[in-house]
Amino acid sequence: MRLILAPMEGVIDATMRALLTDLGGIDRCVTEFVRVSQQLLPPRVFRRLCPELDSGGCTPAGVPVYVQLLGGQPSPMADNAARCAELGAPGIDLNFGCPAKTVNKSDGGAILLQEPERVGSIVAAVRRAVPAVIPVTAKIRLGFEDRSQFLDNVLAIAAAGASEIAIHARTRRDGYQPPAWWDEIARAVAQTSLPIVANGEIWSPEDARRCQLASQCQDLMLGRGALRRPDLPRLVRASLGGAPAEPMAWIDIAALLQHFFHSKRAQCEPRHAAGPVKQWLGYLRHYYPEAGLLFAGIKRLIDPVAVSAALDAHLATLQAGRDRPAAA
Ligand SMILES: Cc1cc2nc3c(=O)[nH]c(=O)nc-3n(C[C@H](O)[C@H](O)[C@H](O)COP(=O)(O)O)c2cc1C
Repeated sequence: MRLILAPMEGVIDATMRALLTDLGGIDRCVTEFVRVSQQLLPPRVFRRLCPELDSGGCTPAGVPVYVQLLGGQPSPMADNAARCAELGAPGIDLNFGCPAKTVNKSDGGAILLQEPERVGSIVAAVRRAVPAVIPVTAKIRLGFEDRSQFLDNVLAIAAAGASEIAIHARTRRDGYQPPAWWDEIARAVAQTSLPIVANGEIWSPEDARRCQLASQCQDLMLGRGALRRPDLPRLVRASLGGAPAEPMAWIDIAALLQHFFHSKRAQCEPRHAAGPVKQWLGYLRHYYPEAGLLFAGIKRLIDPVAVSAALDAHLATLQAGRDRPAAA
């Protein structure tokens, strides 16, 4: 089984990838998408979204990061993929799943699923443009409006020479509305020998097992679940390996959050560092009730000194509670 950390624009950036891969369980990451229109983008665009390019294309924990491209024209997609390969990307991923209206209106993302032939020609052009040792993967949904062209897309991607396909088991019309239709993925598995990665609505090790059974896929991609429970990849791996592991306690997550805040503070305008912390707390609070309380405590704070003090105080309270001897 391989576990892949899903690409998530505006959420899973290099800082988050470093932090999550450090916890273990993740075999590969994918960057947020890079928009490709007609131009060959300058190297700095790729380095900004994928600073790992300057460290062998891997996170500090040694997990490879594929660069994701999004666009509707084979030739510029191929040129930009070749540039990513030259810059050291260990793999190229092609986004055919983005549901955003603005993206779809400008000829990118899930709208292309209405044209399996074009999807195939983009994959084939990118495949030809990058060295054979560099995998070219694709990420799709079940379709745009409906699932009628699902298998056509899968087969077009396979015939174009992709190394793998990740399937988010919903159409664009489904948006993010549960459930994810994992059993639909099994239809693709039955039609092709192309490795398939199942994606969507995996929140727990039990979901991972159910998804594997329904989709007939060993390999899974985790997105929001890994943000709500940062140790989910490690827990899934342990549980499916037959040796369930201890979940991380909130105190350890709070320490991660503090570390995350300080990394962000060092990287961006200090007054912007609180935003990503609040955003992450928005995910964490689905699983950890303490995250909801912390979020309520800092949601109006912008001053980084105040945010830092609030995070320190929260952690100190947790530490004091842990260190306090149990009552006799
Ligand atoms: C905020 C957000 C940003 C996303 N950005 C991307 C992206 O840049 N590229 C992509 O292929 N998918 C993107 N996705 C889709 C996810 O990779 C994934 O397919 C989806 O969240 C379903 O998986 P999950 O239920 O495990 O989260 C995004 C999803 C969310 C919620």
